[in-house]
Amino acid sequence: MSEAPAIHAARTVLVGVTGGIAIYKAVELVRGLVKDGFRPLVVTTEAAQRFVMPLTFAAVSQAPVLDDQSAWQSSGGWFQHIEAARTASVMVVAPATANTLAKMAAGMADNLLTAIYLAFRGPVIVAPTMNWAMNEHAATRENLRVLAERGVEVLPTEEGELACGEEGSGRMASPDVIRLAVRRALASAAAGPLAGKKIVVTSGGTRERIDAVRFIGNRSSGKMGRAVADEAYLRGARVTLVTTQPVEGPSYDVVRVESADEMAAAVGEQVRDADVLVMAAAVADFRPKDEQAGKIERGARESLTLELVRTVDVLASTARPGLFRVGFAAEAGPRLDRARAKKAAKGVDLLVFNDILAEGVGIGSDENEITILTPNGEVHVPRTSKTACAAAIADQIEAGLER
Ligand SMILES: Cc1cc2nc3c(=O)[nH]c(=O)nc-3n(C[C@H](O)[C@H](O)[C@H](O)COP(=O)(O)O)c2cc1C
Repeated sequence: MSEAPAIHAARTVLVGVTGGIAIYKAVELVRGLVKDGFRPLVVTTEAAQRFVMPLTFAAVSQAPVLDDQSAWQSSGGWFQHIEAARTASVMVVAPATANTLAKMAAGMADNLLTAIYLAFRGPVIVAPTMNWAMNEHAATRENLRVLAERGVEVLPTEEGELACGEEGSGRMASPDVIRLAVRRALASAAAGPLAGKKIVVTSGGTRERIDAVRFIGNRSSGKMGRAVADEAYLRGARVTLVTTQPVEGPSYDVVRVESADEMAAAVGEQVRDADVLVMAAAVADFRPKDEQAGKIERGARESLTLELVRTVDVLASTARPGLFRVGFAAEAGPRLDRARAKKAAKGVDLLVFNDILAEGVGIGSDENEITILTPNGEVHVPRTSKTACAAAIADQIEAGLER
């Protein structure tokens, strides 16, 4: 999880907590929100308090917990549900039980949480969790559809073993995914040029098969592309990440591929209705001419010669008017001249250059040092986190989309 930008510091996030077994993850969520610089204001239902004492949430949020009892205390003119709704920038309900989701969809306000929901005018996120059969029930499906139609962000449940011991879809999104959604809700409320745009980002190194067990690969970790995808998601873009790497709990669409050919096919398909393409993946330039069946045996051989052929140039093959394209050039040495030539040859809108020989940055590392070649000049980003590099790249994409 990347660091939260300072602009969100001290913003109040209403965290509605209901009576689902995934409530233990809500404790971690609240802690995470504090770490991100937010002020979580927890409001619990009566059922939630049967699972976890309010004291736990008060301790991790460093604030009193709101509940039905506190709402009915003599207020001296202070209406807790209206005041809470006024103070907060975003509301998240996690875990969101089938019961509370039904009440939200029906507009009921028979407890403090649902009354606050009705009174709140900012972005709302729900993280449903329940047994798979409850989750698949037509009533739940309909309630979630209604909420989504009204602009509530419904975080997908995850597949896996459920608390009831059964397998299926119904696990709550992870606290990291929810934290990212909170930041996205706040950032996209600002509605910059990337908000609502479809962006396709590639990441990771491709693997070119030699035989059934071996491949030609590279050391790319996929971190830079992932950081760009996360940043675009935070800015409200519709993100598809085409990657060779496994991605845990993504907040957006992920297409897994292995080879350069598969990546070219997936990107070709995805960019048809896209606004932006960012090619951060390390795509092999050559692949074995033929994949050998089975496993090549060493036998008595002293050497082995493989014939390699060029792979598809994914970036070049996607050029079309209306598609804003960003290429990456990883060069051995401070070869900005080569990056400039590459930018011209590929006709991309932006080219991100990095020197793979620089110490401690680039391939596989958490940090990078980049120069972004734009139509108006070159922007140097000194050594920093890949998250900060991704923000600088997204700034340039947004500037380009506005040109
Ligand atoms: C052990 C236990 C676990 C439960 N887990 C869930 C759950 O994960 N999701 C859900 O929708 N309901 C779950 N329920 C049922 C809710 O607690 C029940 O519907 C309650 O009325 C919800 O109230 P609330 O929405 O006001 O918090 C569970 C009940 C029990 C006893």
